[in-house]
Amino acid sequence: MKKIAFFDTKPYDKKGFDDLKEQNDFNIKYIEYRLNPDTAYMAKGCDAVCAFVNDVISKETIDILSELGIKIIALRCAGYNNVDFEAALNKVHVVTVPAYSPHAVAEHAMALLLAVNRKLHRATHRTRDFNFSLNGLTGFDLFGKTIGVIGTGKIGQIFIEICKGFGMNVLAYDPYPAKIDVQYVGLDELFSKSDIISLHCPLTKDTYHIINEESIGKMKDNVYLINTSRGALIDSEALLKNLKSGKIGGAALDVYEEESEVFFEDFSNEIIRDDTLAMLISLPNVIITSHQAFLTEEALNEIAKVTIENLNEYFNSQPLKNEICYRCNKANCEKKANGRCF
Ligand code: NAI
Repeated sequence: MKKIAFFDTKPYDKKGFDDLKEQNDFNIKYIEYRLNPDTAYMAKGCDAVCAFVNDVISKETIDILSELGIKIIALRCAGYNNVDFEAALNKVHVVTVPAYSPHAVAEHAMALLLAVNRKLHRATHRTRDFNFSLNGLTGFDLFGKTIGVIGTGKIGQIFIEICKGFGMNVLAYDPYPAKIDVQYVGLDELFSKSDIISLHCPLTKDTYHIINEESIGKMKDNVYLINTSRGALIDSEALLKNLKSGKIGGAALDVYEEESEVFFEDFSNEIIRDDTLAMLISLPNVIITSHQAFLTEEALNEIAKVTIENLNEYFNSQPLKNEICYRCNKANCEKKANGRCF
C-alpha cells in the first residue's frame, strides 16, 4: 500500500479523503504542519506528498523530498505559484487539481461584492448587539454598474455570467481572450471605466502587483476591488493608502499577499504582527475572508477525487494528465511518449 504524506491537514480536507477510503489503496499520513524545508523530512518512508496553496515547495524542500525518494507532489489546489518548477524538473513530478469548482470561487467573489457593498459585515454585527440603526450602511445598486473582470478563464467566465444576471455591464481583460460573449478591452480602459474590478487571473511575474499605485491612479474614484485569486496581485501598501485617501471605495479580499503567515490558523488570542493586515481589517469598507472561496462540499469532494486519480495515474505508470512543469509554464512542454513531462 502506497503511503502519502499529507501536509497542512485541516479537518475539512481530511473528511473529503476519508470519504474516499474505500475507493483507493492509499495509506494517508495526515500531518498538520505546512510543508517547508523544516518539515519536509516528515515525508520519510512515504511514496508521495500531497500539499496545499501555502506550502513552501522551494528548491530546498524539493531537494529534501527527492533525497527521501519522493517522486511526486500532488497539489490539492489549482494555483501553483508556490512551487519552484525549475528545481522540480526531472526530479519530482508535480500534479494539480486544475478545476474543482470554479462555481465555488465565482460565487464567493459575488458574495464578497454584495457583502462589502451592502455592508452586511457591519449590519450583522449591529443587529447582534440589538443596534438597529442604518446610519453608514448605504450601498449602491449593482444593476447598471460596470465591472471589469481581469482573467476570463474558468472562474472569470462564471463570474461574468453571474454579473450579467445582476444586469451589470461587463468589461474583460485577458491576454488570451476566450470565445465568450463579453467586451474585451485593454487593461487601461478596464481600469478607467470600471466601477468595480474583480481579479481572476493567476499570479505570474506579469500579474504580480497588477494593482499598484500607478494602476489605481488610472481607476475611477470610489472604485471597488474584489480579489479571490492570489494576494500578490495587489500591492497591499498601495491598496491601504488609497483606501485611507478614499480613492478606493471598498475592497473585498479572500487572499492577501502575506497570507501564508496567518491564513487558515486561529490567532484570536494573539497580537497580529502584520500592521498592514491589521489596518486593512480595521477599515469599515474592507472585508477579508481567509482564502475560503474554494470551500464548498462539492469542491472538497472533487479535490479529493482528482488528487486520488492523479496519484493512481502516477503509481500505475499512466500519463499524468494534470502534470505541470517548468517547460509547461514557459509554454514549450512536449509531453514524452509516456504522457509525462519527463
Ligand atoms: P484559469 O487558468 O482557468 O484562468 C486564468 C485566466 O487568466 C486565463 O484565461 C488566462 O489567460 C488569464 N491570464 C493569464 N495571464 C493574465 C494576465 N497577465 N492578465 C489577465 N489575465 C491573465 O484559472 P481559474 O481556474 O479561472 O483560476 C483563476 C485563479 O483563481 C487561479 O490562478 C487561482 O490563483 C485562483 N483561485 C483561488 C481560489 C480561492 O479559493 N480563493 C481557488 C481556486 C483558484
